[in-house]
Amino acid sequence: MNKPIVIQGAMQVEVASLIAQLGDATVETTGGWTFWCGQLDGVPVIVSRTGMGMSNAAAATALAIERYAPAAVINQGTAGGHDPALQPNDLVLGARVIHLGAFQSPFRDAGAGSDTLGWRPLDLMDQSESAEFTMPVPMSFDADPALLAIAREVTYAAGRVVDGVIGSSDVWNNELDRIAHFHARYGTLVEEMEAASVAQVCGQYGVPFLGVRVVSNNIVNGSAHDVSTANACQAFVAALLSHYRPPA
Ligand code: 5AD
Repeated sequence: MNKPIVIQGAMQVEVASLIAQLGDATVETTGGWTFWCGQLDGVPVIVSRTGMGMSNAAAATALAIERYAPAAVINQGTAGGHDPALQPNDLVLGARVIHLGAFQSPFRDAGAGSDTLGWRPLDLMDQSESAEFTMPVPMSFDADPALLAIAREVTYAAGRVVDGVIGSSDVWNNELDRIAHFHARYGTLVEEMEAASVAQVCGQYGVPFLGVRVVSNNIVNGSAHDVSTANACQAFVAALLSHYRPPA
């Protein structure tokens, strides 16, 4: 039997249409995490509902890798636009995902207020135990080149497909200056709450990773939240699998 590929979504609506396509799925639950094990297009697949946020996503990823020894992990779902050109249903292939939730603020005295744009990125993977582990740019994780190449070949009718940077944190940003800062300084196209956490865990295990995100909302150009865009993202990933053959 080939190794499975894990496909993650945070919310039920982000995995429901994939689950509906799985042949003969068995369902396994541990803690708060559910895994649907079946096949899609002849590829063994584990669909994983991670729950929302970085901690849920990290735990779900470690569990999936330990339990199913997957050939790869694809994290997919909805995201909010940082680029004004992106419309709902447009899709971002995360050539890189970056961690937008780990910062150290420079000292400010009582009464001096808060300036999040001045915060310095932290390297949570630093092992040197030095006191100074800020970085010029946030922690960054590259997509697996083979998975990214396959994703670029997929036909997608619901919108545009672009390559770029996905930013992740446990924050839903609606401050336009903060979003513009991330977009200008780090090149983020979209933000969401799981991909960088998943990429970090996959990196530690040496498991190939790809993040795929559909624009469900874009406060930069006034696009309201449309969670039904999650279906287009799942359809894209299902189509990706028809091009994918896991290593034995
Ligand atoms: N900011 C942050 N997370 C978002 N999500 C969708 N849009 C955004 C956004 N603008 C996703 C996250 C999380 C849930 C709140 O929806 O990944 O799972």
